[in-house]
Amino acid sequence: MALIVGNWKMNGLGDSVAEIAAMAAARSDLWVAPPFTLIDRAVIVAAGAVRIGGQDCHAKVSGAHTGCVSAAMLADLGASFVIVGHSERRTDNGETDADVRAKAIAARAAGLQVILCIGETEGQRDAGEAEAIVAAQLAGSLPDSADGLIIAYEPVWAIGTGRTPTPGDVAAIHGFIRTRLVERFGPAGQGLRILYGGSVKPDNAALLLGQPNVGGALVGGASLTAASLAAIAAAAAG
Ligand code: 13P
Repeated sequence: MALIVGNWKMNGLGDSVAEIAAMAAARSDLWVAPPFTLIDRAVIVAAGAVRIGGQDCHAKVSGAHTGCVSAAMLADLGASFVIVGHSERRTDNGETDADVRAKAIAARAAGLQVILCIGETEGQRDAGEAEAIVAAQLAGSLPDSADGLIIAYEPVWAIGTGRTPTPGDVAAIHGFIRTRLVERFGPAGQGLRILYGGSVKPDNAALLLGQPNVGGALVGGASLTAASLAAIAAAAAG
């Protein structure tokens, strides 16, 4: 069954947790990463039906890092997963593959599942470098163990733009990622879930998620309401 994960990014105030309550009432297979400020309230209203996660974590357990949140802190709030390496973190905060790898390792040590994001820019795709970029990101950011790991392929040019790769392009690059994961992890790489992210909506979810090696979606804008995220999950389930 496809895994549908909502990434709320820097959106949502207290009244938004009503959407998570509505998601929990509608389905029991959604995951949502609200902003840090809503995690504790989201965990309560999700009541175990929707899994709640963070959008980032620090690589250290604790210490003098003003404004940062550790994986242990997320776990302490009841989060069960964390997104690391999102392209917006890589761009806005200068996160490197080595940073992403350290965060993934820290998250696993705290018992969180990890959604590790990779994806090329438009210029890189136009230059025919998409596979090389994705391969380099995987080489630099994957932890040593596949345990608890989920990969999210999010082409930067498809995020928030309404544009998506063709189904054939999605199948091709997800197949490429699968090959790399098997090279890296052996048989465990075959079982890893690879999400697609970038302008997933209720009306394109079935087509994109129907491609081989696509195990679900990481959804931004269309994850902010229960109606939209549940519609994506319903479309993905056929
Ligand atoms: P959109 O679904 O808004 O394109 O965002 C995708 C994304 O970045 C999810 O992490």
